[in-house]
Amino acid sequence: MKNYITHDEWCIVENGFHPEFNEITESLMSLGNGRMGGRGNFEEKFSGKTLQGNYVAGVWFPDKTRVGWWKNGYPNYFAKVINACNWTGIDIEIDGEVVDLNTSKVLDFTRTLNMKTGVLERICTIELTGGKTLKIHSQRFLSLVDDESGVIKYSITPVNFYATAKITISLDGDVSNKDSNHGEKFWNEIAKETAHGEAFLTLETKKSAWDTVPTFQVCTGMTFEVFKGLEKVDFATFPIKSEKYVANEFKINLEENQTYTIVKYAVNLSSENHTIEDLTEDTKSYIAKISQKGFEQMLAEQTAAWAKKWEGNDIQIEGDVAAQQAIRFNIFHLQQTYTGEDARLNIGPKGFTGEKYGGVTYWDTEAYCLPFYLSTSEQKVARNLLVYRHNHLQKAIENAEKLGFSDGAALYPMVTMNGEECHNEWEITFEEIHRNGAIAYAIYDYIRYTGDSKYLEEYGLEVLTGISRFWAQRVNWSSDKNKYVMLGVTGPNEYENNVNNNWYTNYLAVWCLKYTLEGFKTLKNQNLEKFNEIIEKTKLNFDTEASKWQHIIDNMYFPYDENRQVFLQQDGFLDKELLTVEAITKHRPINQKWSWDRILRSCFIKQADVLQGMFFFEEDFSIDDLRRNFDFYEPMTVHESSLSPCVHVILAAKLGRKDKAYEMYVRTARLDIDDYNNDTEDGLHITSMAGTWMSVVKGFGGLRVKNDKLSFEPFLPEQWEGFSFRVGFRGNALNIVIKGNNIKIENITGDKIKVLIYGKEIEVGSKSSASVEY
Ligand code: BGC
Repeated sequence: MKNYITHDEWCIVENGFHPEFNEITESLMSLGNGRMGGRGNFEEKFSGKTLQGNYVAGVWFPDKTRVGWWKNGYPNYFAKVINACNWTGIDIEIDGEVVDLNTSKVLDFTRTLNMKTGVLERICTIELTGGKTLKIHSQRFLSLVDDESGVIKYSITPVNFYATAKITISLDGDVSNKDSNHGEKFWNEIAKETAHGEAFLTLETKKSAWDTVPTFQVCTGMTFEVFKGLEKVDFATFPIKSEKYVANEFKINLEENQTYTIVKYAVNLSSENHTIEDLTEDTKSYIAKISQKGFEQMLAEQTAAWAKKWEGNDIQIEGDVAAQQAIRFNIFHLQQTYTGEDARLNIGPKGFTGEKYGGVTYWDTEAYCLPFYLSTSEQKVARNLLVYRHNHLQKAIENAEKLGFSDGAALYPMVTMNGEECHNEWEITFEEIHRNGAIAYAIYDYIRYTGDSKYLEEYGLEVLTGISRFWAQRVNWSSDKNKYVMLGVTGPNEYENNVNNNWYTNYLAVWCLKYTLEGFKTLKNQNLEKFNEIIEKTKLNFDTEASKWQHIIDNMYFPYDENRQVFLQQDGFLDKELLTVEAITKHRPINQKWSWDRILRSCFIKQADVLQGMFFFEEDFSIDDLRRNFDFYEPMTVHESSLSPCVHVILAAKLGRKDKAYEMYVRTARLDIDDYNNDTEDGLHITSMAGTWMSVVKGFGGLRVKNDKLSFEPFLPEQWEGFSFRVGFRGNALNIVIKGNNIKIENITGDKIKVLIYGKEIEVGSKSSASVEY
């Protein structure tokens, strides 16, 4: 665990340079705007520890799978959102000496990510040879308003010397992914040009062996202005071109104590959003548009755009700056990773902050991220996440066919970019078929929250049909048990593979079948024409398929321990040596200290599994059921997935275990800022950040939707003086303030609204508020 980031309510601040943690800081200070993103790298050359990273949403490469022994069904490739052209480069040489914070003496240094405005700022003073003192001040942001662009304002001030500076302003496309499977670079150069004060570079992803994967072109363009003090100045520039690299170089005679500022405007346009023929021209006009706006106007628009976001999603925590900083950090990164403008995009577990997990889509989106966007963004944002999966339905059917399923059964991939399976851990992810259930659950969750039940007939039922068909084929009848069973799966707890009757998966499968059947029955009553249309489209033989589904619903096997009255994670779980995590404190994290064989045989649980199911379907279980299962499983859970603690916060809160809830919350909230798991350098845990948000809102705030109403059952953690959060719900924007034993509902916009507080209904008028003691 690290503790070098200054606690601050709105900013992530590195005070004093920590080169040893630079890759961690780069992750923490990543910027994004939904369309592009990148790590908090320095603009000038840096020869120390760094992971240079810039990414363009939706632009990826199928990196050929690397395994020792090929098995049928293994995905051909692991998809990667690839490291793209580095548009941030501003290199400085002073009298021939390269400015590099790794080799120069750093006299003072602050790097700040301002989460209120989305601006990354660095102010530092360094000493070059001969005692030359140079000040650097840089500000950079990715525009939310012009979301294919970024801008940098970079100033240098020679404090005590006169010298000649050589400045090189570049676009560098000669980049690679750190985790490339075969050490390959993924870009080819298509075109480049450079003229006075501007440069353009078009790259194309290499053609892969798979024709289902398109190639992408990205044109990166830049222009810049130079100021001496406040006065714009012009210099003769020299164009530089090399393989996948273009730059403008110029020289300035620096005067002592004079500030020189470069404003660099850059855009990244991809063939996903522009035709290839127009790519360069579009890039040029985009560059012209933003440079005409100028830095100050772009900054004002950026500040306003972020203010609008914060209006809808801020969480305020009183009396605990570290907690306040952490929750804003989580919200900030979620909002800059996915804006919901484009249903082709999704949320990679590391977003634009690193390369692990390839930037591809996991079940994390549906199980963890959806609730965040439902409450904090316009409805279309969450809807687009569902439409994304609808768009992949045909591929999910093909994925299932590859594994031997038929007749429209759909198995969504565990890891995907374009709907094709592309996981890179055969033995684990292959059998995590529970992801299919999370995708169905998200449809339910969305409709429950928004009331948009039309979604079911527009898109939802088709997806549910494919998923239900899959479950119906995936189970088999056990004549021994006289029940349906589901063999050879991996549940959310990846520390067990190829188990039989994982309770969570069986429960989810049955729930999916029920939900699909109910959906069809309701539609048949309400809109026979639409019902027939979907039956026709899906070629569903309603009578025979539905009765099979019903038979499974009525006869599914669920492992249960009568003695302890707990659901069993899977068959045979009780044969394990049942220990608690206290017995292995010195061995943790077990994923770094134990062999895989030892992990699989142990009782230790990576992340919520049975408890994940009890979280999703809490209304199906009594509080005593929950208590027994929580008390059985939680002590065996090592939480080695960042997705685990949040579920435990919410359930502990429900059980009134305030201390446990808070203990788990601390683990999730500052996971990245304090580098709890020693892995922030790989990138941030973006999807689990949504879990942190859920911990506050669903855990401490007790927010649920019950019978079309928002319901709250809050408690105030002892460590805080109060907290408040903002949520949107069906046309209302609410601010919920919890202080002492009081909850205040402020109805900011929308009509009067009825909400439940610990089961009691209250009405809150439009633009007014109501307080309740609980
Ligand atoms: C978790 C999975 C998750 C993946 C990506 C793994 O460590 O066990 O549940 O989908 O990370 O976040």
